[in-house]
Parts: sequence; structure tokens; C-alpha cells
Amino acid sequence: MNPTAPDLNIPASDEREKLLERAMARHHNSGDALIEILHTAQQLYGYLSRPLLSKMARRLNLPPSHVLGVATFYHLFRFEPPKKHSAIVCLGTACYASGAGQLLAAAQQSASEGEWTLTTGRCVGSCGLAPIAICDGIPLARVKPGDLAAVLGGKHDG
Ligand code: FES
Repeated sequence: MNPTAPDLNIPASDEREKLLERAMARHHNSGDALIEILHTAQQLYGYLSRPLLSKMARRLNLPPSHVLGVATFYHLFRFEPPKKHSAIVCLGTACYASGAGQLLAAAQQSASEGEWTLTTGRCVGSCGLAPIAICDGIPLARVKPGDLAAVLGGKHDG
């Protein structure tokens, strides 16, 4: 396997600020559009930093705790800069029943110090291949914890 780095396609910082301001203005700076604005912010910056969430809260006239609460409720928002590579461990029912918990533990151990951003998903639509992990878009079917740890650059006993 030879995973390639994802194209984050993130614009320059001053341009990002203008685009985010425009997105909020398009929604009349209304908190009702918070989730859509959070999506736009993540697309622009690659993740949602605390200062960025605070800034959006001020602009949308919402309590910062509300903005943080909404953002952390959804698994698709990230709060740290994306690393060079991305890995998803499926925690859907079929994968979980096939050992995805151990897979995730091994991946967390290996990804923490490496160049991988680790996230989890809820059924990626390949239950027959459970447990499954997706590394830089490449599915690893019936993957074992030790094999996933090796892909992520770590070591694992399992
Ligand atoms: S539960 Fe993992 S692919 Fe369906």
C-alpha cells in the first residue's frame, strides 16, 4: 500500500477570513445557520480552532459554549490541524462486533505520534469486509490491529 497525502485545498489565511465573513453574511450572521457555517469554516481552515470558534460565536451573537457544544456534538468536525495522512476506523455495528474496538485502540496508539489524523465512522457501507479501516482513501478489509498499527507507523502486540 502506498497512501498519498490528501489535498487539503486550503486557501491563504487572509482569503479564508474574507470567505468565512462572506459565508456568515450570506446567512445574515444568524445562529440558525451555525452548522453550515461550521462546515464552511472547517473547509477553509481544515479544522476548528478554539479562537476561530470564539470569533464565530461573537460574530453570530451566540454564547461560545453553544458554538463549542454544537461543534463537538458532531463527529465530522475536527479541532486539531489535519496531519499529512488520514485514517478512519469504522465503528458501525458489524465492524464493532468484528473487533473494531481493538482496532481503534491500536490505531490511537500508533497515530498519536505519527503523521496520521485518526477519526471514526459509523458504517462505511462495506459490512461484509468488517472490521474495516480506510487509510488515505484506501480500504483495509478485515484488518488486524497489528496490521493497521504497522500502516500507521507504530507497533502493536496484536
Ligand atoms: S459497520 Fe463497518 S462497514 Fe458497516
